[in-house]
Amino acid sequence: MRRLILALVLGVFAFLAACAPETSGISVQGVALSNDDLIQGHVLYEAWCAGCHGSKGEGQFPGIGALEPSPITNRIGAPPHNTTGHTWHHSDDLLVRYVLEGGFTDPANFYFMPGFGWRLGVDDARRIAGYIKTLWTDDQRMMQARTTQQEMEMMAGQ
Ligand code: HEC
Repeated sequence: MRRLILALVLGVFAFLAACAPETSGISVQGVALSNDDLIQGHVLYEAWCAGCHGSKGEGQFPGIGALEPSPITNRIGAPPHNTTGHTWHHSDDLLVRYVLEGGFTDPANFYFMPGFGWRLGVDDARRIAGYIKTLWTDDQRMMQARTTQQEMEMMAGQ
C-alpha cells in the first residue's frame, strides 16, 4: 500500500512538472521568462528587429564597431546586440523602452529606429529583450543584471 501511495505521489509531481512552463533562468524587469517566452521573443525579434539589427544580432554594418559610422553614409547604423555590441550595458527598463518607444539619438549622426508600442505590448517587449539576452555571454548577462539592479535601487531612492 505504501508503495502505491509513493508511486501516486511521484506520479502527481511528474505530472505537475510536465505542466509547469519551464523557466529559462532569464528575467526582464523582474518577470521570469519561460523557454516558450524566449522562443516567442525570438520569433518577434525576427519579425520586427532582425531587418536592421541582423538575424544573429550582428548589427546593420557587421564588422564596423558598434558606434562607428558607415564609411559610405557617415551615419551610425543599428548596433549589434550580440557579444560584440554594447546592448548589454543597458538596463532592462531601457531595453523595453527601446522596443516600445524607439530610438532617441541624434538623427543627423544615427539611422532612425521606430518604436513598436503601436503593435507590441510590454509582455512581448520583455520576451524580445529576454531573447536578446540569450545572445550574450554569462558575464555580460551578469553585468547587465547588476546595471538593472543598480538603476532600480537608484530610482527607489529618489
Ligand atoms: C528600421 C531599423 C530598426 C529596427 C526595425 C529596429 N531597430 Fe533598434 N535601433 C536602430 C538604430 C538605427 C539604432 C541606433 C539609434 C538609436 O539608438 O536611436 C537602434 C538602437 C537600438 C537599441 C540600443 C542598442 C544599443 O546597443 O545601444 C536597442 C536595444 C534596440 N535598437 C532594440 C531593437 C529591438 C528589440 C527591435 C525590434 C523590436 C529594434 N531595435 C528594431 C534601428 C532599428
